[in-house]
Amino acid sequence: MNAYIRSLGSYVPARRMSNDELATIVETSDDWIVSHTGIRFRHIAAENEAASDLGLVACERALANAGVAPEELDLILLATSTPDYIGLPSTACIVQDRLGAKNAGAMDVVAACTGFVYGLATANAFIVSGSARNVLVVGAEVYSKIMDWTDRNTCVLFGDGAGAALVSAVSSDSPSRVIDSTLHSNGNGATALLRPAGGSRTPRPLDGLESRECYLKMDGRRVYVFAVQVLVETITELLERNDITIDDVAYIVPHQANVRIIDAAAKRLGIPNSKFFINIAEYANTSAASIPIALEELQASGALSRGDLVLTVGFGAGLTYGGNLIAW
Ligand code: ACO
Repeated sequence: MNAYIRSLGSYVPARRMSNDELATIVETSDDWIVSHTGIRFRHIAAENEAASDLGLVACERALANAGVAPEELDLILLATSTPDYIGLPSTACIVQDRLGAKNAGAMDVVAACTGFVYGLATANAFIVSGSARNVLVVGAEVYSKIMDWTDRNTCVLFGDGAGAALVSAVSSDSPSRVIDSTLHSNGNGATALLRPAGGSRTPRPLDGLESRECYLKMDGRRVYVFAVQVLVETITELLERNDITIDDVAYIVPHQANVRIIDAAAKRLGIPNSKFFINIAEYANTSAASIPIALEELQASGALSRGDLVLTVGFGAGLTYGGNLIAW
């Protein structure tokens, strides 16, 4: 049995914030943000929108695009590092209920920006083993809610959004087949990207709920060096073990963190920048949602033909990284 991506769906909040608008909140500029990251806009969730609200719409769209009923789902894997609640209940269960997926198991995947790559690899394993036939993998993130909006080092980088893929069983060589996945972690880099307070290590910030310790902290330089290195490593690993070269790959869909990270990796690999599908200018970094949103845009652009090889690569907090090879 093989697994294939049967359909995709995505959703971003209506509110679109430009760099110029951000420059009225923190000391920054459109020039700095564009030249250091490639970001021009980000979409920001409404006050009453949480990860499940975004994820639900992306899931509904993916199911509608395939003509599959929620009752046909065996499993929902929801990748997020901005869940509706800390730890329990899972955001996946909230989506499962609101979707009406009454026959599905549901769990969150916590691998930060690598969450979709981890989710797709897990869905593939469930299907190949015969344990599931229809798995919905969704990345849903609302980083705007964990941003320190006074910290220009982080708040310019992120946006909100959700992207979903319906992964189904197929016995033949169907299109959009997941051929291979690789997953890695490096926990000794845990402090490079973290929310210090709110978990069992530091349940309550010392100076009350408004403490900045509840917000995302990032060592930007360290993350940059890590990201470039693992982009190169993951692409090389997937090419080598599948006995293909970069010329055999139509597109690389990287996690959309920063154009400079992608440019540096492309240079190191000797790959033209045009091999990378990039939409960060519109959405900024939507963490686990960035790859499925980009995959859907790439598909909708008509640039993919049947059988084209597509390589996804994720990297993020944990530290985690990995990739998937898909024959479109
Ligand atoms: N606006 C204006 N100036 C700024 C801003 C800003 N938003 N942010 C920093 N600066 C200033 C700094 O204060 C510094 O000024 P100084 O020279 O007077 O001290 C100057 O710009 C350069 O700062 P650096 O931090 O050295 O800038 P750098 O070129 O390293 O770029 C960046 C910073 C973009 C954050 C880079 O380190 C990076 O891309 N890191 C990876 C971040 C990332 O992608 N994180 C998420 C990936 S994983 C995940 O998705 C969860």
